[in-house]
Amino acid sequence: MNMNPSNFLNPKFPSLWHGGDYNPEQWPKEVWTEDLRLMKVAGVNALTMGVFSWVTLEPAEGEYDFSFLDELMGRLGDQGAHVILATPSAAPPAWMAKKYPEILRTGPDRVRRLHGNRVNYNLASPIYRAKTREMATKLAERFGDHPALALWHVSNEYGGEDYSEQTRGAFIDWLKAKFDGDLDKLNAAYWTAFWSHCYTEWDQIEIPGQPYSETSIHGLTLDWRRFSSAQTLDFYLNESEPLRQLSPDVPITTNMMGTFEPLDYWKWKDHVDCFTWDSYPCFTDHPMETHDWVKVAFIHDMYRSFKQKPFLLIESTPSSSNWYPAMRLKRPGVHMFECMQAVAHGSDGAMYFQWRQSRGSQEKWHGAVVGHAGAEGTRVFEEVAEVGARLMEIAEVAGQCESSEVACIYDWENQWALRDSCGPIVGEKGYFLECLDYYRGFWERSVQCDVIDSDQDFSPYKLIVAPMLYMLKPDVAERLTAFVEAGGTLVTSYLSGLVDENDLVIPRGESWPLERVLGINPEEIDALYPDERVRIQTQIGSGTYMASRFCDIVRLRGAEVLGTYAGEFYAWKPFLTRHELGRGTSYYVAARTERAFHDDLAGHLVAELQLKRATGETPQGVRAINRGPFTFLMNSTA
Ligand code: GLA
Repeated sequence: MNMNPSNFLNPKFPSLWHGGDYNPEQWPKEVWTEDLRLMKVAGVNALTMGVFSWVTLEPAEGEYDFSFLDELMGRLGDQGAHVILATPSAAPPAWMAKKYPEILRTGPDRVRRLHGNRVNYNLASPIYRAKTREMATKLAERFGDHPALALWHVSNEYGGEDYSEQTRGAFIDWLKAKFDGDLDKLNAAYWTAFWSHCYTEWDQIEIPGQPYSETSIHGLTLDWRRFSSAQTLDFYLNESEPLRQLSPDVPITTNMMGTFEPLDYWKWKDHVDCFTWDSYPCFTDHPMETHDWVKVAFIHDMYRSFKQKPFLLIESTPSSSNWYPAMRLKRPGVHMFECMQAVAHGSDGAMYFQWRQSRGSQEKWHGAVVGHAGAEGTRVFEEVAEVGARLMEIAEVAGQCESSEVACIYDWENQWALRDSCGPIVGEKGYFLECLDYYRGFWERSVQCDVIDSDQDFSPYKLIVAPMLYMLKPDVAERLTAFVEAGGTLVTSYLSGLVDENDLVIPRGESWPLERVLGINPEEIDALYPDERVRIQTQIGSGTYMASRFCDIVRLRGAEVLGTYAGEFYAWKPFLTRHELGRGTSYYVAARTERAFHDDLAGHLVAELQLKRATGETPQGVRAINRGPFTFLMNSTA
């Protein structure tokens, strides 16, 4: 357990934070007074303001009006609340788009969009970069040392790619830097002799992607994803720099979106002071619900793992989300469950979108703490107030972070490479869901896991679970081997170790980099149609299970066989192997399996490695997590 005071989101506000997005500019002042009263009733102590306020703060170019923030930051501070202040770059004002059309985003069809919606800006536009920096400077100068300011919230949900000529130029510059200005190196890394794709001038390189451009050069598509993710980070760094300089004591974050595929959030680790994310699982009584709680748990664990310190659930809905096909309401008690689940996994609070429900426009039906039907006495408001009271009771957990013995690897670049690969099945390969299925077995047993990517340090763990580790980035095979030799246990699976960081296939001769640690060498992969199954039999768990989608056929290179296929022409070939190296052990699972196998494998590993469980046996559907002085018991069943 880590009780380091620097683990607080902000040591000046060492409590659990409760509140949400507050958009007072949509309301007259009388409503503000009522809002402030209700916030006290609901136990709300943290409000995010300014997210979409650009036109209020700068109604015409160079004319600023910070009066609503002046007044409300003062009044909120006076009643003991603190403010998360956003920079408004997610939605530039119409006057700016009219005067400087280059700030608008260009779509994959290479057509520049018109003003509107949000996150509709050109990431490469020097004008927009200057404007966002200027606004951040003004905000930092005015509020940077305000006593109520607890956290800077830079922009909102960064995302998406830009296809402007400016961005294409930036992409080419990025490639020149990556390949030392040597086009031959790029051509070799991208295997461009294929289909006559050799580039002879840098300017021939187009942004790849469906449906208008190149998709067949996987090294290029991968680098485009890397570039776009890096370009967004660079945009954030440009915008947040004035905050760092002028307001050095206030931590900085940006709200993220789970495992949002276009942005490799691991790359932000050294650039945000705390991680925050927006979680909107669907709340139905459908069997999917159980699945969703595992998914949310997995993502919370990832957000704690990013910095090995508490994170913040900065947005969630108090009732329902209007962008789901149907706005199912949270069932009674689910709201408390969701908030406590976040805190148990390491969130230092629970926050909502949004405080007061809008009357008009896109989000008028989105759930809010204060709804169209009112506040006090409504089911939603009372449940929120109950959470507020509970957070105060357990405020001691703030800043506390438990360490894990198990880490699951979920790696963005690996997902990008798997998605783009044309084979063994086309398109999405189900990597995330497979990671969840491995994770689930530990979750069911109340064993806390970290979720890391393959660039992180493996040495703090007893067990690394790395399913479908298709891409081996430099040194990963060596580091996994060293981890096992030093006494660690590694579990990996089919489709692992097949390509390098440029998506070039790694030859699987004797020098295949995972052979030493796994004691096997994959020869062929049989990909199945969704309805096809192959029986498998193992020495662990119930003995027989079904495999689906991917069946690797492997050659033994020293590993012991714990299970075999029981069907197809590869019947009796290894399905599950175990190999000892140095002081450690590795397991290889050659096929995608049904959940029962993941569950039995997790049970076997928990017993064999005597992994720490938060509590003894719990009833079906109940999990436990320890954090600080508390054990959280969570019943995710109806
Ligand atoms: C995101 C945004 C919010 C709001 C919510 C609605 O999380 O950050 O501004 O639009 O979605 O669910």
